[in-house]
Amino acid sequence: MIIKPAQRIQGALRLPGDKSISHRAALIAALANGSSRLQNFSSGEDCASTISCLRQLGVTIHWEGPELVIDSRGTLNAPNAMLDCGNSGSTMRMLAGVLAGQDFAATLTGDNSLRNRPMVRIIEPLELMGVRIDSQNGQPPLQLHGTRSLDSINYECPVVSAQVKSCILLAALNANGRTQVIEKTATRDHTERMLQWFGVPVEITRLADSDGALVAVEGVADLPPRDVAIPGDISSAAFFIAAAALLPDSNLMIQDVGLNPTRTQFLTTLQSMGAQIEITDLRETCNEPLGSIHVRGGLRSDITPNPDRNSVPAEMVPGLIDELPLLAVVGTQIEGGLEIRHATELRVKETDRIAATVSNLRAMGAGVEEFPDGLAVAGPVRLQGASIDPHGDHRIAMAFAAAALIAEGESEISSADCVSVSFPEFFELLEAVTTR
Ligand code: S3P
Repeated sequence: MIIKPAQRIQGALRLPGDKSISHRAALIAALANGSSRLQNFSSGEDCASTISCLRQLGVTIHWEGPELVIDSRGTLNAPNAMLDCGNSGSTMRMLAGVLAGQDFAATLTGDNSLRNRPMVRIIEPLELMGVRIDSQNGQPPLQLHGTRSLDSINYECPVVSAQVKSCILLAALNANGRTQVIEKTATRDHTERMLQWFGVPVEITRLADSDGALVAVEGVADLPPRDVAIPGDISSAAFFIAAAALLPDSNLMIQDVGLNPTRTQFLTTLQSMGAQIEITDLRETCNEPLGSIHVRGGLRSDITPNPDRNSVPAEMVPGLIDELPLLAVVGTQIEGGLEIRHATELRVKETDRIAATVSNLRAMGAGVEEFPDGLAVAGPVRLQGASIDPHGDHRIAMAFAAAALIAEGESEISSADCVSVSFPEFFELLEAVTTR
């Protein structure tokens, strides 16, 4: 894919449904007894992987116009083949929680990238709940021997991860008694919100000594179906927002996008760098906040200097986790550059996102220092068009498409169709709002 430099980003967009919320809506609807209708379900391949796994588990799922209808009896059937989670870590980790309480064995596998990702983080708590799991040295394929008599646990997550928390909470629905998960640092809370939307009592106690929480759920006998309207994906919106903020004269409106506070740190971080971003029409649907994001191009010069302005505070990293490669691109455009540390988790995403960001930024002429847990970029620099290798990672491809718009000369992104993992419409929509 060739990307030429742009003059500005202009127009109004509505985006496909949030990937994280879509996975959860589908998984929880599959545990409910009856028919749930999901509006604005993610168009990404990751969520399609969740749907195809659920079909293999006996759930009836079909499209009615733009709505995805999930019909379930609340229990699942043993699959007669391996469950292929594709590129989707969310599918594998959360589905493992769902399968923990079923009385059959199932094997979860995925593509090359997913088969190299760490799963001990879910194997450990699920084994404590009484599930036997065979893995390849802690990596997929995972063979799970589910059980109807799951034990509840009190578990403090050693890894800061919404996927791990969600895996345990979904398993807890089928466990005896009350399960408690402690997360020392807050992560996205879509599972808690979706469970509540389906009528499950979820007790959330904020921790006194950190921004984390204790989340408690009890086993439930029967889950009623619910309809869900899914807000636009703020992590997909981020690429447009960054490009619009960095290109003077831009004027972009993104409507009906999710604004869950555990996902909006990217907006506040950009604002602290001088980006002109305004939120309007803030409201709530199906227990999730959403609204419109208006971006005007150009960074303000009247922002009061702040000593922390050019490094991302450690506690903000989980809330920015999917946007960090894009933020590194933005960092090359601000006075003083940007340092991102405490982000070792980026090394075990769909690709090693630290290495991929460093090599592609260097190819574009940026000054970059790599650390085991992050990177630092110098700024401001004029990026140069370059050959970009996203290493099969959708977010790297989209972050560097944004970088290519602000660069001098054209760039070529190889195997750019990997964007379909989360956002198949990305390049088409980007073209529609870009003026050259
Ligand atoms: C996700 C959580 C994050 C994120 C991923 C989606 C989720 O992963 O990177 O894209 O839907 O819960 P971790 O929880 O492993 O950090």
